[in-house]
Amino acid sequence: MKHLIAPSILSADFANLERDVRMLNSSVADWFHVDIMDGVFVPNISFGFPVMEAVKRYAAKPLDVHLMIVEPERYVDRFAAAGASGITVHYEACTHLHRTVQQIRQNGCRAGVALNPHTPVTLLKDILGDLDMVLIMSVNPGFGGQQFIANTLNKIAELRQLASVLKPELLIEVDGGVGLHNLGDLLRSGADVLVAGNAVFAAENPSAMISAMKHLEPDVRQA
Ligand code: DX5
Ligand code: ZN
Repeated sequence: MKHLIAPSILSADFANLERDVRMLNSSVADWFHVDIMDGVFVPNISFGFPVMEAVKRYAAKPLDVHLMIVEPERYVDRFAAAGASGITVHYEACTHLHRTVQQIRQNGCRAGVALNPHTPVTLLKDILGDLDMVLIMSVNPGFGGQQFIANTLNKIAELRQLASVLKPELLIEVDGGVGLHNLGDLLRSGADVLVAGNAVFAAENPSAMISAMKHLEPDVRQA
């Protein structure tokens, strides 16, 4: 499968949100990555339903919602109703993860579980078969523009290995500090979906950056 690019609207210009959403529509981006932060699970607050609904009004591609919130089960139904195609909750925020994953699926959404940098992928062994996607955090969640944590590559490779037995079609998404400089390594480790905030929106030409990321071939070594 060709890898997917999911630009994070956290790094968009919120005063020109319609313009940025239209730019993503006309780019080769695959999904819109929507970061929801509650100021409790992570030390930052991003935005909520009004902004997500404004994005949905113009977005011509699936919304990939990443909930960095405590008790996400309280809001899953509302994010689904607001137009999420996929909903990802954090392993660290769910006491009854299996129930929350079923709730996401009952809403007709792709179910994802995110792991913080310190959380081992092996903890997902007994739930992998029920998941559509695992999101490996490659920074500590809460902010865009942080530096990529190198151990992420080992975690992706380990998860790909685990999934080859338990859930071969599992999507592996990587989020944080992703850009052209590490994309080749990420793809070779087994990543399928690459989230990029700063790399896209701080680029001189965001649409061209998305194309460069989309068309990179994993066997081409980066300098
Ligand atoms: C971080 C968010 C990310 C963030 C990525 O907590 O989950 O999706 O927007 O931003 P960059 O690509 O700038 O690291
Ligand atoms: Zn995210």
